[in-house]
Amino acid sequence: MEKITVQTAPIEGQKPGTSGLRKKTRIFMGEHYLENFVQSIWNGIGGVAGKTLVLGGDGRYFSDRAAQVILRMAAASGAKRVIVGQNALLSTPAASNLIRTRGTDGGVIMSASHNPGGIDEDFGVKFNTANGGPAPEEVTNRIFKATEEIGEYHILSAHDVDLSSVGMTSLGDMEIEVVDPVTDYAALMEELFDFEKIRTLFKGGFTLRFDAMHAVTGPYATEILENRLGAPAGSVLNGTPSPDFGGGHPDPNPIWAKPLVDLVMSDDAPDFAAASDGDGDRNMILGRGIYVTPSDSLAVLAANAHLAPGYAGGLKGVARSMPTSRAADRVAEKMGIACYETPTGWKFFGNLLDAGRATLCGEESAGTGSDHVREKDGLWAVLLWLNILAETGKSVKETLSDHWATYGRNYYSRHDYEAVDAARANEMLDALRAKFADLPGQTFSAGTVAEADEFAYDDPVDGSRSEGQGLRIGFENGSRIVMRLSGTGTVGATLRVYLEAYEDDPAKLHEDAEAALSDIIATAEEIARIKHYTGREVPDVKT
Ligand code: G6P
Ligand code: ZN
Repeated sequence: MEKITVQTAPIEGQKPGTSGLRKKTRIFMGEHYLENFVQSIWNGIGGVAGKTLVLGGDGRYFSDRAAQVILRMAAASGAKRVIVGQNALLSTPAASNLIRTRGTDGGVIMSASHNPGGIDEDFGVKFNTANGGPAPEEVTNRIFKATEEIGEYHILSAHDVDLSSVGMTSLGDMEIEVVDPVTDYAALMEELFDFEKIRTLFKGGFTLRFDAMHAVTGPYATEILENRLGAPAGSVLNGTPSPDFGGGHPDPNPIWAKPLVDLVMSDDAPDFAAASDGDGDRNMILGRGIYVTPSDSLAVLAANAHLAPGYAGGLKGVARSMPTSRAADRVAEKMGIACYETPTGWKFFGNLLDAGRATLCGEESAGTGSDHVREKDGLWAVLLWLNILAETGKSVKETLSDHWATYGRNYYSRHDYEAVDAARANEMLDALRAKFADLPGQTFSAGTVAEADEFAYDDPVDGSRSEGQGLRIGFENGSRIVMRLSGTGTVGATLRVYLEAYEDDPAKLHEDAEAALSDIIATAEEIARIKHYTGREVPDVKT
């Protein structure tokens, strides 16, 4: 087995975004593209000699090839051991768990999360640090810098490693441990939740549908929900991972998981339904006749987490990303615990979790999680919901009604304008920024503006500052408009408009969200001229 050094040159655009480097699969398959980035990870983290890493991904097209390249490059750079999920599969939370429990130096996750997979779709590579979380900006900046300076990479010339069976193998001097992707993760879930109680729930006839969307959570959900918790066979839908996710878009929201939403709204509705995304970190929660917005889900979980054994001692604090609705803030206030507002991106929760300041975290983008790993965790959210329902005996609908009756309701919606012209989108935000000084005091149909600013985050743990994290306009009545450009899109720019209105009148807690938000939607258009700048009459996606 020969170690080869290949001459290369920097490739433009290898800047990790919100969650690693995501590009069209064909770009990743291009000459030196993957190799340059992987070598830059090694270079950016001070090399991998003597280190132990975790490797896995969501099984999307090209992962099998990429895994072999990454293994050969880790071996060539002197890594001691790589722990790989069988067939290179690992959900993102399971990878995070392995990185932590096995005391490794970090891990490489091959995924483009909820983006479609296939040769003409998306691929991605993300590095997580030893705490199990996505690399913080200081690390991704070093990786990016390395991509700009790279002149050569090292790789072993060797045959493919057999990743199809569990056990020890090697590549040159490097040990490779192929592990079952589910085992350790399932054990962690058994520690956190009352499996006996949830089993009793299913024995009593409680019905569930979990849509794995042909992605990585299939094997996890089948093992945990059906085999261990006794949900009848067939409760898990689309449970076999496929490289192109069955030709679908593995994003658990009312658009891409519409069949599941239709099911819960029909006469055949199960008691509970949920879906997860490509790499298993996102979730969507549904009950009979109801869709739970991610922001509400975070608030409900925060209010009830103590009902599950893993959180019986109460929460240290909660954290949400800035555009996430402020429903969780009301729960934190009532409980007398801290509530943190961070920029979009799970990595910003890492310091708060590591420092023991927050126990639960969540984002409007269908992410919820806790300090059990350092990633958001789709199945974890499903199990916490099930544990809570098993304890309270309430339906999802009753749970939400009771929650709103106690805390009021933060009506919420996100409107996305996808693949718009990046220059125009930036012009729009510039124009909006320019209005900020004059907005406070002005009255629109949504109310009178109280404040308008651009969000910057000062991390209370390490003191780092992250600027330019979204434009926000707050109204005196508690309504809010937030706008930012997505950091995960792969074509042009995606404008996200987040709309929120607070209501505590008991007679007005059960309205249609878009209707309840109509004034704030009209006001967003009036202030920002979205149609004018995007050229779109309506958003592409509303969640
Ligand atoms: C990924 C990240 C999340 C983030 C989401 C949306 O899923 O892990 O933390 O909230 O992307 O990011 P975007 O920049 O597209 O709004
Ligand atoms: Zn994901």
